[in-house]
Amino acid sequence: MKGLILSGGKGTRLYPLTYTNAKQLIPVANKPVLVRVIESIRDAGVDEIGIVIGQTGPQIKEAIGDGSRYGVQITYIPQDSPDGLAHAVKISKPFLGEDKFVMFLGDNVIQGGIGGLIRDFANSSWNSQIVLKEVENPSSYGVAKLREDGSIEQLIEKPKNPPSNLALVGIYMFDETIWEAVNSIAPSKRGEYEITDAIQWLITKGRSVFPHVHKGWWIDTGKPTDMLEANSLVLDELTPGIAPDAVVEGSQIDSRVVVEAGARIINSVVRGPTIIGENSVIENSFVGPFTSIYHHVTVQNCEIERSIVLEHASLGNISTRIQDSLIGRHATVQHSEGKPRSLKLNVGDHSNLWIV
Ligand code: G1P
Repeated sequence: MKGLILSGGKGTRLYPLTYTNAKQLIPVANKPVLVRVIESIRDAGVDEIGIVIGQTGPQIKEAIGDGSRYGVQITYIPQDSPDGLAHAVKISKPFLGEDKFVMFLGDNVIQGGIGGLIRDFANSSWNSQIVLKEVENPSSYGVAKLREDGSIEQLIEKPKNPPSNLALVGIYMFDETIWEAVNSIAPSKRGEYEITDAIQWLITKGRSVFPHVHKGWWIDTGKPTDMLEANSLVLDELTPGIAPDAVVEGSQIDSRVVVEAGARIINSVVRGPTIIGENSVIENSFVGPFTSIYHHVTVQNCEIERSIVLEHASLGNISTRIQDSLIGRHATVQHSEGKPRSLKLNVGDHSNLWIV
């Protein structure tokens, strides 16, 4: 069995963070989503992994390398144009050959890993296995209509009038029958070769596609609110601990906090679930639940909660509590001392600010 991760896509809904960084490299609980995907494939016993890359390929290659750091062997597969998930599968044929494979979208985060799913598929005679999850907004996803006996009647990509609330999670398993399917479908209305259409093709041709309904949580991290939600869910499951060389002075840290190597927490209150990254400094501040402070961040005289702060950012002397925020790399947010008393903004394209 091989693994295929799709990591193209520009991540426009996460601008401005994704002007300078691939969306799959944004960390959730201080670990890039793509690394979480690689590790869950590895933990399911699959160590030959192809990653389909687009325009952000150079950043992804630099961050992930040959995979040895994660105990896997990575092959990069460039996709010249974003022509859809089924197209990404098509161009991965030289890597995948006739092997069975698991395909995982590089921006999906799922609770509980995929070991059980891979075992079920390996021990079955199914041609494909898909993962479904009940959602409130099925129109944003591929949707499955099941029969009374639980088998799939129909799959539709982003239907206006969804026939059910069962969305297709971005994790799929295939055998060699997928090749004829991806070569038989036409582009959809949005001009992409949809994997949903390829799986529907398998169903129409009488192939066996097993629908696994996932009970845990699942997040497709397309938008800032999704990132914050995924961050909260993953933080909730972290094992707390304070690195031996971290410094904690005059501070209250509750029992659900992770403090990474070299971090310094001085005269502050930190409430978990929260993670403070390597070599970050928290001083005279409050860091509230569901916050991920990445590495080399400075937070001084501030209150912050339910937020993600990326590396080398610096927050200082802010009198209003920062909440539900994504702060980019090397960003600074500071109190302005000068006159007149005013907001001074140096904000990137497509940024969003909510001022009180
Ligand atoms: C893709 C698939 C969709 C699936 C979703 C899961 O959508 O086309 O069927 O439900 O991933 O994340 P996209 O993210 O390309 O809009």
